[in-house]
Amino acid sequence: MPIVSYLSYPLYYTALTVALLLLTFWIARRYAMRKMKRVVMKAEHNYQQQIASLQMQLSGKVSMLESMVEKLKLSNQELNRLSEIRSKFMSIVAHDLRQPLTSIQGFTSVLMMDSPQGGGNNEQMALNNILKATDNMNQLMADLMDISMIESGKFKMDFKNFNFNQLLNDVFSLQQVNAQKKGIFLAKYEYPNDVTIYADRFRISQVLNNLLGNAIKFSPQGGRIEIRYFIQNSRLVCYVSDEGPGIAYDEQNKIFQKFHQSDNDRSGRKQGWGLGLSIAQEIINAHNGEIGVESPGLGYGSLFWFHIPVEPASFSV
Ligand SMILES: Nc1ncnc2c1ncn2[C@@H]1O[C@H](COP(=O)(O)OP(=O)(O)OP(=O)(O)O)[C@@H](O)[C@H]1O
Ligand SMILES: [Mg+2]
Repeated sequence: MPIVSYLSYPLYYTALTVALLLLTFWIARRYAMRKMKRVVMKAEHNYQQQIASLQMQLSGKVSMLESMVEKLKLSNQELNRLSEIRSKFMSIVAHDLRQPLTSIQGFTSVLMMDSPQGGGNNEQMALNNILKATDNMNQLMADLMDISMIESGKFKMDFKNFNFNQLLNDVFSLQQVNAQKKGIFLAKYEYPNDVTIYADRFRISQVLNNLLGNAIKFSPQGGRIEIRYFIQNSRLVCYVSDEGPGIAYDEQNKIFQKFHQSDNDRSGRKQGWGLGLSIAQEIINAHNGEIGVESPGLGYGSLFWFHIPVEPASFSV
């Protein structure tokens, strides 16, 4: 007996429909899966192509960067070489010019002694001017030699124990002569005890001479300059204040750069090269110290300060 006869017709059709539906679903699913696979494969292919082209672009950029780095290295080497030549040239010129200058100074002094004395004498005045000019040139040569030593890393300190009070007295007497010429009052506030520091005496005197020299140079006639020092936290702290033109806020860091002179005071600017403070900063840094300036603004004077350790024990290097 046929199976169909066991089933009622509606049931037979229902089963057939379900079977057909399942088959259609299976075929549709398979078709969809295949299509999806194809889409995924195509996307993957596109993606790989994109990655490959990006990799190519990247490797092009990398090789461009590598060649730029190479070029930079070469120009850097060239720059170092030129900077070395410039430093050497500067120090040779400065050194070789100092010898004839010393001779000119010596012979001028001899001529001054020989020429008839008495104020207003033209010969004496001319000789005096020669001496002043050679002094200025000597100072410039010394500064240029310092700068070339700083640049070549040969700027070495000669550390020894010495009495700071005495050093300041020496610098003070020297600068007093210049201050008096401008009717400037120099006031010194001594620390009550003797202060012995471990430092380079000549270089510290160079810092003090520049700070006091600047204060005198930039102060108006009849101004007042004060210098004070004390010991705080095992450091020697020194202040030089004046009633000069002051320093604009945005100039206060720049004046420590070599050859930088601010435009505030053109009369003082003519008497120098803008090297003193940059050398002073190198000296103070070499002593593990700090140097700076404070000024309330143009027309309100300046206060220069520095501090250095008193003893080698407080040196961090
Ligand atoms: N006390 C001061 N008052 C006002 N401006 C100052 C003072 N000290 C320094 N300056 C400014 O800082 C600049 C740099 O000072 P720095 O001592 O380096 O050079 P300089 O005195 O001009 O020349 P040099 O010291 O080489 O003879 C000065 O030209 C000036 O513009
Ligand atoms: Mg100076």
